[in-house]
Amino acid sequence: MIYLDNAATTLRKPPEVAKAVVEAMEHMGNAGRGAYSESLGALRTIYWAREKLSNLFHGFGAMSIAFTANATQSLNTAILGSFKPGDHVITTALEHNSVLRPLYLLQEQGLKLTIVDADKNGKIKIDDIAAAICENTKGVVSTHVSNVTGNVVDIEKIGEICKKNNILFIVDASQSAGILDINMKEMNIDILCFTGHKALLGPQGTGGICVREGITIEPLLVGGSGMDSFSKYHPDKMPTSLEAGTINSHGIAGLLAALNYIEKIGIEELRKREEGLVKQFYQGVFGIPGVTIYGDFSEFPRGAIVSLNIRDYDSASVSDQLFDVYGISTRSGAHCAPLLHEALGTKEQGAVRFSFSSFNTEDEVRTAIEAVKELAKDEER
Ligand code: ALA
Repeated sequence: MIYLDNAATTLRKPPEVAKAVVEAMEHMGNAGRGAYSESLGALRTIYWAREKLSNLFHGFGAMSIAFTANATQSLNTAILGSFKPGDHVITTALEHNSVLRPLYLLQEQGLKLTIVDADKNGKIKIDDIAAAICENTKGVVSTHVSNVTGNVVDIEKIGEICKKNNILFIVDASQSAGILDINMKEMNIDILCFTGHKALLGPQGTGGICVREGITIEPLLVGGSGMDSFSKYHPDKMPTSLEAGTINSHGIAGLLAALNYIEKIGIEELRKREEGLVKQFYQGVFGIPGVTIYGDFSEFPRGAIVSLNIRDYDSASVSDQLFDVYGISTRSGAHCAPLLHEALGTKEQGAVRFSFSSFNTEDEVRTAIEAVKELAKDEER
């Protein structure tokens, strides 16, 4: 099987990740709930993972990272915990439903929402964000990399605008954390939401939220924290304020192993490998008669994603053929990004998304190119 659905989840992980999870399951107690070695060991592992993530994102120290189950939980926490009915919030047509749906929920309760349009290449104009800011604008929520086109959003520029206007900047780093440089301080990011199971190469069920010093987010969940048990209120200090109940320390042990791997190989090297593969694939499929590619490939770095369609064939049926005939795994359909598919003109057809990781090989990419060529040739389908 040739796995090219890394934007959904990276399937091939460094072997030390699974090893760390198994070891944690055999030896880890509940962090913050005891003073014996198994509980303290869990606490230490979680702390190291927080520290490494804060360093990776140029965040605000280990305690500025709260762990969640995934980017969706992080984004719901950031959005529902920061904005209220009556506020004005700006977002983009590139967003995943994990951004749009919490915003729509608030919109029904009276939040004013501006969604900046994307063009046919899936690009937004940053000036549109600046132009939409009004007196009661409370924040901007933007993805860093589109999960459909792989286009990068200039979050540094949006961060500048947000800082100048003294409004909150929330970034969805689902497709960029672990592969693109993220500097919360230089990019003026207030809240960074990430997942552990994509380019960070960790297990599913790990994710987090990195919060700038001085920013308070109302928690989605309250409950056990291992401290202040006689208080009626959940602790209000990060990271406990956003972590109620036992966190996924087994998964976080795996994520820590993945972070160590990323540190060892180097994020630049990993990006170079991915970029090589995405360029090879793009150049191989570009110009094949009947193939339409979506997105802007004029600039690198970008996400290691190429979405395309073959003639007017249904994207799900092409994806099925790729798997059934060639053993290639891709993701078809709308990728939970409805507004972007509308902008690309692919609402009905969807698109076939090929997404790469540093574990893919040039041979796999060559096979994928040949498969697209053959499917595009076959007009009888
Ligand atoms: N959000 C993930 C994707 O883009 C699952 O496939």
